[in-house]
Amino acid sequence: MNGEKRNFDKAAASWDAKPERVRLVKDIAQAIAGEVTLTPSMDVLDFGCGTGLLTMQLQPFVHCITGVDSSQGMLDVLQAKIKDQNLDNVKTCYLDIEKNGVLEGSYNLIVSGMTFHHIREIKPLLNQFSNILLPAGHLCIADLDADDGQFHENKDGVFHSGFDREKLAGLIREAGFRDIRCRTAAKLTKPVHGGGSREFTVFLLTSCR
Ligand SMILES: C[S@@+](CC[C@H](N)C(=O)[O-])C[C@H]1O[C@@H](n2cnc3c(N)ncnc32)[C@H](O)[C@@H]1O
Repeated sequence: MNGEKRNFDKAAASWDAKPERVRLVKDIAQAIAGEVTLTPSMDVLDFGCGTGLLTMQLQPFVHCITGVDSSQGMLDVLQAKIKDQNLDNVKTCYLDIEKNGVLEGSYNLIVSGMTFHHIREIKPLLNQFSNILLPAGHLCIADLDADDGQFHENKDGVFHSGFDREKLAGLIREAGFRDIRCRTAAKLTKPVHGGGSREFTVFLLTSCR
């Protein structure tokens, strides 16, 4: 782990060029759709949306989806997609949760894919989610299972080497969520430092308010 903030602005232009990343996000979207019934009346927040890979997977099925991110470069890529496809149900919001950013609005569903390991303090973020999630709304968090620090070669801005599902579920419970369930959403194999490759798994934790 490294205290340096990762430069996501620099990564933005080529973010979508990795087929394995696109595949992973599609698997996460499919897992979310398997846990929560997506409806045309739903307002959704995608926290740590990046270039909107997950946002764009969900948008056809919901009323409105807002992508929140602390990288303007990533949001610019998402904004270009919105413009190209002439979408009026996708919005972007620049916000750094670690610089006193306060999430606003009210949502039926909050999703977050592969972002939690970049957030130092998980509890305050969960508390903010609790404040903006409507009663009976759903929270869906997808991230890496504990990975011994092997997933990221570049450890800038990586504050968690994946998560223990039970511990994260405990934090979610403490923040006031209920009906917590967890499943494996995706698996991917990638080369690791020192040679060879390893399979990593991504969980989806779903809960209700
Ligand atoms: C690994 S990327 C995942 C992006 C996207 N969800 C995906 O799966 O392609 C993590 C994202 O979290 C954002 N992020 C990191 N720290 C953040 C913070 N403090 N507040 C808001 N967003 C943050 C980054 O800018 C980046 O776009």
